Amino acid sequence: LVLILDYGSQYTHLITRRIRSLSIFSLCINGTSSLKAITDLNPSVIILSGGPHSVHAPNAPCFPDGFVEYVESRGIYCLGICYGLQLIVQRLGGEVRVGEKQEYGRMEIEVDKAVGLFGNKNTGDKQVVWMSHGDEAVKLPEGFEVVARSQQGGVAAVENKKRRFYGLQYHPEVTHTPEGMETLKHFLFNVCGVTAGWTMEDVLDEEIKVINDMVGPEEHVICALSGGVDSTVAATLVHKAIGDRLHCVFVDNGLLRYKERERVMETFERDLHLPVTCVDAAEQFLSELKGVVDPEKKRKIIGKEFISTFDAFAHDLEQKLGKKPSYLVQGTLYPDVIESCPPPGSGRTHSHTIKSHHNVGGLPKDMKLKLIEPLKLLFKDEVRALGKILNVPEGFLKRHPFPGPGLAVRVLGDVTEGNALDVLRQVDEIFIQSIKDAGIYDSIWQAFAVFLPIRSVGVQGDQRTHSHVVALRAVTSQDGMTADWYNFEHKFLDDVARKICNSVRGVNRVVQDITSKPPSTIEWE
Ligand code: XMP
Repeated sequence: LVLILDYGSQYTHLITRRIRSLSIFSLCINGTSSLKAITDLNPSVIILSGGPHSVHAPNAPCFPDGFVEYVESRGIYCLGICYGLQLIVQRLGGEVRVGEKQEYGRMEIEVDKAVGLFGNKNTGDKQVVWMSHGDEAVKLPEGFEVVARSQQGGVAAVENKKRRFYGLQYHPEVTHTPEGMETLKHFLFNVCGVTAGWTMEDVLDEEIKVINDMVGPEEHVICALSGGVDSTVAATLVHKAIGDRLHCVFVDNGLLRYKERERVMETFERDLHLPVTCVDAAEQFLSELKGVVDPEKKRKIIGKEFISTFDAFAHDLEQKLGKKPSYLVQGTLYPDVIESCPPPGSGRTHSHTIKSHHNVGGLPKDMKLKLIEPLKLLFKDEVRALGKILNVPEGFLKRHPFPGPGLAVRVLGDVTEGNALDVLRQVDEIFIQSIKDAGIYDSIWQAFAVFLPIRSVGVQGDQRTHSHVVALRAVTSQDGMTADWYNFEHKFLDDVARKICNSVRGVNRVVQDITSKPPSTIEWE
């Protein structure tokens, strides 16, 4: 295991991802975690991340007491990046000062000694790297040597081979450091002697073993399927481990897309053989939403209805089995786990603070179910890779994200008014199908239509009309936190708008949303 101690740099998770891309298992925990939390993970390499602090700041985050002794006594390799390097220098007896010459952005560095970190280079080799630091190491602890310098003569890389401490003043993990990956690779494989071999097949085997050890032979497990990638892969994995002692529920809340229920049920049953009960709760959800226009109120109502539907399913199951289910499967991903406790000063906040997000299957309070979260150490692309091994159809794994509250956040205002949901379903289907036909579905993070609660005047077949307006939204994004609007070709937009107005009754105007996030959010409510 390569363990990353996070001191708040915006690039920390990138280090984890880069290392995993080398088929090496890597985890990231808060840089101020206890010594026990670190020793429990039994890492062979520890990387101290960068961070926004100065090591001289009053509450500058640091590794715990006893860390250096632990690392040395176990023969663990330790690499500090940027702030991490400064921590090593300062805590091992060197000196760090506010730099006379601050170094930000692209810089050239030169290899001073072709050993250790640069053992694959020649002395005098130059490379461009990404620096971003104010403080600098001015005196190294005993036994340390400088192995690379910046153009201005500053320390760019240090090491103490005997004590296995290494440091890079720049960020090797970002693409602005073109040779950074090569340096990381050389460090991990050649200096630390790490062997690659972490594959999704291993993850699968290990998770199945964990689940089998955890769930007793008489115990039952429930899972709410949303139709999304995460809950589907999680359920498929658990099903592989315990078979039909898994009981899934899919809720049709009346807020699903065109033929969504039929489509996902077909995948669940025909392709994945999952034991799924489809509960039709549309009437219940829609009657509770009648007349409600406030977006947050809508979300709260939907969250509450999900829980009570789920609760009823669990109680029915209890009657049938003659015993309570013991576990609940959730498709929690790694970013949800790490984002929920970012280090202080990192400027990172939990991703779900702007809108109250109700993921399907919120936990009924009195059920006291234990959680199974088989994906909680994986990033989204890793979940897709796992899904592939589990034979989840490729088309399903590539689906755009869909919000838990469904079309309720895409019909602005009262979702039960007139035939808004029906109109939206038809428009959305035409839009998505056209995107698929144009071969651009996979280049878009998310695309959908929005129903606007206004009417405008039009002329259709020589008749004056006073009909609905729909908006089209498509964005590109890495993680949904920020997004850019997608620039379609004019012809595509022209064709789609024509098709929509010609085939969806009651729509005479189509507009496109050309705002990015921020300032807008991806969804309209
Ligand atoms: P926003 O609209 O906040 O959306 O920019 C970011 C991403 O989150 C999805 N989203 C939700 N997902 N429950 C969910 O499970 C929700 O309540 C919810 N609201 C937004 C949105 O579709 C986008 O991918």
